[in-house]
Amino acid sequence: MLPIKNTLFIVSGVSSFIIFYMGIVNFLTSVEESTGMILLIFSVFVATGTLLGTVHISTSITKPIQKLAKNMSDFSKSNKLSNENQIKTNVKEIFELNENFVSMGEKVEKTIKVQNEYVQKLKDMDRKKVEFSSMVSHELKTPLVPILGYVQMLQKEELLGKLNEGQKDAVDEIYTSTIKLEKLIGDILTTQKLDLGKLVFNHENINISELLHGLIKEFDPIAIEKEIEITANFNEDVQIFSDRDRINQVFSNLIKNAIDYVSPGTGCVTIGMKNNLNDVEFFVQDNGVGISEDNKKDLFKKFYQVDTSSKRKKGGSGLGLAICKGITEGLGGEIWVESEKNVKTTFFFKIPKKPIKISVKDDSS
Ligand SMILES: Nc1ncnc2c1ncn2[C@@H]1O[C@H](COP(=O)(O)OP(=O)(O)OP(=O)(O)O)[C@@H](O)[C@H]1O
Ligand SMILES: [Mg+2]
Repeated sequence: MLPIKNTLFIVSGVSSFIIFYMGIVNFLTSVEESTGMILLIFSVFVATGTLLGTVHISTSITKPIQKLAKNMSDFSKSNKLSNENQIKTNVKEIFELNENFVSMGEKVEKTIKVQNEYVQKLKDMDRKKVEFSSMVSHELKTPLVPILGYVQMLQKEELLGKLNEGQKDAVDEIYTSTIKLEKLIGDILTTQKLDLGKLVFNHENINISELLHGLIKEFDPIAIEKEIEITANFNEDVQIFSDRDRINQVFSNLIKNAIDYVSPGTGCVTIGMKNNLNDVEFFVQDNGVGISEDNKKDLFKKFYQVDTSSKRKKGGSGLGLAICKGITEGLGGEIWVESEKNVKTTFFFKIPKKPIKISVKDDSS
């Protein structure tokens, strides 16, 4: 694009040249030498006047326009009006343009200020809400300890006396429901701590081979009961310095999901890892129902479940994957999923071999 200044100079330069050229032609072709000379001097004056006029117009029009353009560009970057480049002009249109820009800028500044105050208020309210529900969940967890204790005492008949078959079934039902409630409250507390950036990570040396074999052993009884196979697939042993319990928690959530979504008899769950230079890439793969592209994007959001129908057979609250995401990111890694409907689903998560500094994200969505 051609700047206005250059355009003015080109136009005035060409005009001056034509006037000067005509003056010379007149001088050379004039019959009377004095008339030619007068016309030449006149053309020199006019050409010089045109050039000087251009310089004047250029300074009084283009300079303030350039300043205004710079002010506008600075404003669009910082959303703040600057007092440094005050525009002084006698050109009415430029004066009005600048006045309008300043008044618009002041309004935008005000709106942004009010908007920021609202955002801050909403963040404070959200934080207080999370802190309150965190306190409530904690209080809900406390009575569960004696409830579980007494139910377990009732189950061991030698402690509180013999139960008949109906009583035994009832106590077993209370036990299963209490365990579910305990898990749900635990998951809500973990999610709230992640939201508040208060989840504490305890780093220690972890032998990955031991960790993976420990997980297989832990899930063996469920695998046998559901007649599915759980295998480990890795050919290298690695040591990392991270949080063993939290990595176990991520694996447990992913393995439980995998077990839930494979068919009894033919189900196959594989856990494993790939050793990279700075991190370890773990995976949990299953040959279950799979996840469609549409559902993948919301999978790691709190309380998200693909099947929300009343006929839904699986329990759960939809917090498991949100917790996995919070933990992996809190440990400086990431989590993602690849899936082929009715063929296979693989959840991957990367954990750095050594802790890295993470900036706490303030996202309570
Ligand atoms: N391996 C998988 N195969 C198919 N769908 C899956 C798989 N893992 C997760 N999903 C889908 O993702 C949803 C969210 O999983 P998430 O673990 O967060 O919650 P949940 O298992 O329903 O409950 P919980 O909080 O007890 O874990 C599940 O309800 C399920 O629809
Ligand atoms: Mg789950």
